Amino acid sequence: MIQNTPKSCIYFDNAATTWPKPSCVLRAVQQAMTIYGANPGRSGYQMALAASRAIYSCREAAASFFNLENPSNVIFTQNCTTALNIVIKGLLKYGGRAVVSDLEHNAVMRPLNAISVNKPIFDIASVTPGDTPKTLESFQRCIKPDTRAIICLHASNVFGIRLPIREIGELAHRHGLKFVVDGAQSAGVLPIDMNNDSIDYLCVPGHKGLYGPMGVGMLVCNSDFQLPTLIEGGTGSLSLELNQPGELPDRFESGTLNTAGICGLHAGIEFVKKNGADSIAEHEINIMKYIYRRLSETKEVILYTACPDLINLAPVLSFNLKGHQSEETAQVLASKGIAVRAGLHCAPCAHRSFGTIKTGTVRLAPSKFTTFRDAQYVCKVIESI
Ligand code: ALA
Repeated sequence: MIQNTPKSCIYFDNAATTWPKPSCVLRAVQQAMTIYGANPGRSGYQMALAASRAIYSCREAAASFFNLENPSNVIFTQNCTTALNIVIKGLLKYGGRAVVSDLEHNAVMRPLNAISVNKPIFDIASVTPGDTPKTLESFQRCIKPDTRAIICLHASNVFGIRLPIREIGELAHRHGLKFVVDGAQSAGVLPIDMNNDSIDYLCVPGHKGLYGPMGVGMLVCNSDFQLPTLIEGGTGSLSLELNQPGELPDRFESGTLNTAGICGLHAGIEFVKKNGADSIAEHEINIMKYIYRRLSETKEVILYTACPDLINLAPVLSFNLKGHQSEETAQVLASKGIAVRAGLHCAPCAHRSFGTIKTGTVRLAPSKFTTFRDAQYVCKVIESI
């Protein structure tokens, strides 16, 4: 019987990866290594078939979780960044531009920069927190005749700001553009519906709000467009063909899959479903509200957003202590057993937008396993610095 060890620190770095993982995830990983040990999709003996079936059932769970009809359109990748690279480089391979928000992570900005030859092939829309019409206006203004896609995150990994993806998706489709969503900070926490949110491509990590292990992410496709590939190779199908198969998921799943990671992810998705994504989000936002209220009473603390609420924000909070670099504060917290991420969080655009590019911020992000006691302790330590 696998069980979680007691928490070795007060962990508030769940926006980087959730920890601890539910014990059902630990069990699923061990079970996969034990009973699904063969290479999936390559052979016809029992253990190989069982591995393929286990992987397919994770596709089914993910498709149903994001309201996608065809489970074969769920592609397993190494992480969310790989999924974003496949879509961004695929969609813009033969030209065109993208509109992005001013809160994007480097997982979006670096691939876009890498394929910009002489000048940037992206236009940056500014997000006005809590003001959907103004945000939409900004996206609309950025659309040019050769724009091909709107690519944006669902929630900022630094400030928690939530983007109105349903309205942005409608805008994209009204203009005949593809809509790509980076769900790194929202999958498993905020509702995502491939159809109602008009999403063509959703990129998600398995190891954050879906509570799976690191090393597995997903590209969820809801478009008939045949994206060019980033990587080609063996898929276990159409081996005589030199061309990469066109069918999903094989087209984007060259090489051996991470069976144990995928089985762990499946258990993570079931864990979220069983506990209810809404209830998990509510628990997390209540923790953040508590922390926010307490910190807002402390003169030395700088907060950057309004008090967390699920309509406008995901449960992620950034702060600083006056006169301190964020890393210094994080070091003090670490010395008291508190795990947080400080600095720029791979999202310099977001920090530029909030004027924190020089100091960075200290980020607090809870999970289903964070308790009010954890929150009280964090506040007490911050107040004492
Ligand atoms: N993107 C992850 C973070 O925000 C790793 O920390």
